Amino acid sequence: MTQEPIWKLNSQETNFPQLQKDIVVDVAIIGGGITGITTAELLQQYGMNIAVLEARKIGQGTTGHSTGNLYEVTEYGLQELKNKYDTTTLQEIIQSRRRAIAFISENVSRLNLDCDFETVPMYLFENDESIDIDNEKSIAKEIGLPYADLPENGFPLPYKKGMIFNYQAQINPLSYVQQLALHLPTIRCSVYENTHVTSIEEDITTGIIKLKTDQAVVHANYVVHATHTPLGLQLLYHPVLGPYREYGIAFKLRDTSFPSGIFWGNFEGEKYSIRRYEAKGESYMICVGSMHKTGQTDDNMAHIDQLKKFVNKHFDVECVTHQWGGQNYKPADLLPYIGRKETDSREFIATGFSTDGLVYGTLAAKIITAEIVGISNPYSELYKASRHNPLKAAEKFIKENVNMAGQMIKDLVSSGEELKDVDLAVGDGKIVQGKNGKVAVYKNLHGQLTILSPICPHMGCTVHWNNAEKSWDCPCHGSRFDIDGKVIEGPALTGLKLIES
Ligand code: FES
Repeated sequence: MTQEPIWKLNSQETNFPQLQKDIVVDVAIIGGGITGITTAELLQQYGMNIAVLEARKIGQGTTGHSTGNLYEVTEYGLQELKNKYDTTTLQEIIQSRRRAIAFISENVSRLNLDCDFETVPMYLFENDESIDIDNEKSIAKEIGLPYADLPENGFPLPYKKGMIFNYQAQINPLSYVQQLALHLPTIRCSVYENTHVTSIEEDITTGIIKLKTDQAVVHANYVVHATHTPLGLQLLYHPVLGPYREYGIAFKLRDTSFPSGIFWGNFEGEKYSIRRYEAKGESYMICVGSMHKTGQTDDNMAHIDQLKKFVNKHFDVECVTHQWGGQNYKPADLLPYIGRKETDSREFIATGFSTDGLVYGTLAAKIITAEIVGISNPYSELYKASRHNPLKAAEKFIKENVNMAGQMIKDLVSSGEELKDVDLAVGDGKIVQGKNGKVAVYKNLHGQLTILSPICPHMGCTVHWNNAEKSWDCPCHGSRFDIDGKVIEGPALTGLKLIES
């Protein structure tokens, strides 16, 4: 069993350098996932001088932990979108996503990217009446979104009702982004890996934005936060973004005849995304689901076990080969925030993609590029980050987020166990009482303890141990830290403070 996404089976490791000397660029892009690399690819076509600053490895963050599914509809049912938006807006959402998928397809052909791109149908179905499929069909008809009915016989999973969206697609998201990055012309575009941005400051007299990394400083006219959620203190946005984790497993079947396609089904109140994937001559299945709010579960492993239970119930599983987790951020009004952080700002954000990030990330790259080079994009207004006052528009959402986080923090850190008496298995972690307050303690494979401050440096919430991925996860805005306290993802710019190791 491998504790990482299956995509590495069909991808090549990138080896971009770490930034070690100060540089001046037109645009600094923070994050080397699908949003960042696609933005770089587009901006270089306009002659811009770009640096991509990736804290870890290209494509191995959220992009490389996704399903690889490309579809026009969104995580939210059509009815849910219709509750907030009119028919024209629904049509624009579908059309914008359709164009983004077409753009990915064009990139694959134009650059000859070997990333397992395939046009497939998407099956949306339910077993628990949690989606009103008849209603989804009638809204699809109203907005001109073509669909077909599920066949009466031969569908490979149990269902009560369902529908088919033809001409959707799938890729290996990791190899798509890696190969796109390797095609960037080095004359205009420098890609840096293991280059972690620790601060972002704008010089108000010159307008130049200064980004400090571990080793050097980047001076840029524009900054793109292609980090899934914007970095640092973003008080307008973090309260309206709900961070969630979900899990993926890859497994082999005894009978490998399961058809290709995107299978989205609801079973007993849970939504699962299922697909097949061929790698190195072997046939695999992937199942993603079991979502919960980041840092707000007692037992992350139980979510992976629940996925395994589900696949064992519905498939003749030979073995589970891979398991991993991935993060998504849900926006208060169901649409991503893309564009200038504030009117006239030269910092751009792209966030709130929910679980639809490969398509929205591509769309974000097109919108942000258009704004930077001063051309129009038909979807800039629809997704505009400063389209309204998010704090005002999402009062209920914020209250729910804060209340839930507050409740969970209280529950999760209320253990009275003392550090001196800590009872920890090897490879496990917990929050206990130290000499001067709570500490986050982890026991490594040699039995040694690493003791960290449990206070998230972003805005001071208390982190929680994630036993499935061996990380410290913040329940407030989704920052995650490794066992040494280093930032894995989320808005925090700096890691958890080391108390003792
Ligand atoms: Fe905001 Fe931790 S991510 S306080």
